[in-house]
Amino acid sequence: MPPVDLNVVGGKVYVDGGFVEAGISIDDGRVARVAKEPHLPEASGRLNVDGLLVLPGFVDVHVHLRGMELSYKEDFYTGTCAAAAGGFTTVLDMPNTKPPTNSPERLREKITRARGRVVVRVGFYGALPKPPSRIPEMVEAGAVAFKVYLHHPITELDISRDEVLLDALSWVAEADVPAAIHAEDAGVIEDVKRRLGPSTSPMDFAEAHPIEAEVRALRRVIPIAQKAGAKIHICHVSSTVGVQLIRKARASRGALITCEATPHHLLLTVEDLEKWGSKAMTDPPLRPRAVAQGLLEALKLGWIDVVASDHAPHTAEEKGRRDVWAVPPGIPGLETTAPLMLNLVNKGVLSWRTLIQRLSSGPSRIFGLSGGEIRDGAPADLVVVDAKREHRIDSSKFHSKAHYSPFDGWVVRGKPVATIVGGRVVMRDGEITAPGGAGKIIRLRAKNQK
Ligand code: NCD
Ligand code: ZN
Repeated sequence: MPPVDLNVVGGKVYVDGGFVEAGISIDDGRVARVAKEPHLPEASGRLNVDGLLVLPGFVDVHVHLRGMELSYKEDFYTGTCAAAAGGFTTVLDMPNTKPPTNSPERLREKITRARGRVVVRVGFYGALPKPPSRIPEMVEAGAVAFKVYLHHPITELDISRDEVLLDALSWVAEADVPAAIHAEDAGVIEDVKRRLGPSTSPMDFAEAHPIEAEVRALRRVIPIAQKAGAKIHICHVSSTVGVQLIRKARASRGALITCEATPHHLLLTVEDLEKWGSKAMTDPPLRPRAVAQGLLEALKLGWIDVVASDHAPHTAEEKGRRDVWAVPPGIPGLETTAPLMLNLVNKGVLSWRTLIQRLSSGPSRIFGLSGGEIRDGAPADLVVVDAKREHRIDSSKFHSKAHYSPFDGWVVRGKPVATIVGGRVVMRDGEITAPGGAGKIIRLRAKNQK
C-alpha cells in the first residue's frame, strides 16, 4: 500500500463525544483512520501534537469577509487568515457587501474573486434577489443560505410588507436552505433615533437599538417563517426574552428555528461599551450584565445552538468618527472567539461537549455542512488546541485588517495552535502556512461541483 499523506500523532482526539489517545491518518483530504499510533498506516508527512487536543474544525456561520469595494476593511485573504488563526476551518460570509450579493450574477462574481484567495472553506450567503423566484438560481450558483436584515434591508424587495417577506421565505423554504435573520424592528430604531437627534455618544447607539426592537422583529418574523415553512436561524440573539420566544416557538409550535449568540453578547456588557466607546459598538448592542448572564445560561442549556463571531471589521478612521450615527457598528471576532470559549471550558463554565456542539457540530448540522465530527471518511477539517496555553488578547497581532477589540488585554487560557483544512495545515503556531487558494468554496447544490 502506498503511504497516506499525513499522520497527526501524539494528541488526544475528540471522537464520539469524548477524548481518546490516538493518531489520525489523513489521505486525499479525508480522515483515513483514527487509531493508536502503531495501528496507523505509513504516511509521507507527520505532524506531532504531543500534549495537545485535536477537535473537529470550528465553523463560524456569521462572518463579514467584505472584499470587493469593501476590501479596505477586510478581504477574502485577510479574513480567512483570521479564520485559520482562530481555529475555524469553515466560515459563512455575509452578503451585505458593496455591491450586495443579491443576484446570481453578483454571487458568481464574488465566488470568482474569492477563489484563489481563501485559506479555509468559505460558503456564501445570498441576500434576497428580486424577483424572489431567482432564489433557486442563487442556490445553484452557490448560496448556502440567505440573510435577511429586517431593519435595513439589503434587498430590493420591500420586506417591510408581510406578504413580500412571506413570499420570499416560501422560495427559501422551497430551495431547502436556511434563512439567517438579523432581527431588529426598523420602526423602533427610527423612533428612538429621531428623539435622540444628533449625537457623539455610542451609548445613544445602544439606546436606539433596544431589546424591544429585537422582540418585535422576532414576534413578526417567527409566524411568517412558520407559515412559509422556512428554516430560520436567528443571528446574534441579544436578549433573554428573545431566547424565550425562540425556545417556545420551537417547543410548542414546532417551528424550524435555531439561534446563535456571539462571544461579545455572552461576555461583555454595556459597561464595556462605556469603557471602549465605538470599538465595542456593535449591532445589536451590548446589554446589561443580567442579560449577558442569562444568555450564557441559555447557551449552556442548549437554548442557544451556535456561537458565531459576527466578525464585522471596520477601519480605525470609521470607528473614530465623531457623529455616532456615522460610525459603522461591528467588532472583529474571528481571532478571539475560540480562545474566549476555550477559556470558559477551562473555567468550568462550559463542557467540551457543549463547546464542540456550539462551535462545530451544531453549525454544521444547521447549515448542512460537512464538518462537525472526526470519523473515517469525513473531510479532514481539524483544529489542534493547546487547552492550557495562557495568553493575552492583543488585537495589534490580528491577521484581520481590523486591529481593535473590546477584549484587548483579557488573559485567557486555551488557544488553537494548528488548523487543518481538507488535510492541509493552513495555520501553525499563529502563522499562516498555506497560500491563498488553499481553502475551498463550498457549493452544496451546484450542478458542476468544483
Ligand atoms: C454588521 C457589519 O458590520 O456588517 N455590523 C454589526 O454590528 N453586526 C452589520 C449588521 O449586522 O448590522
Ligand atoms: Zn447582523
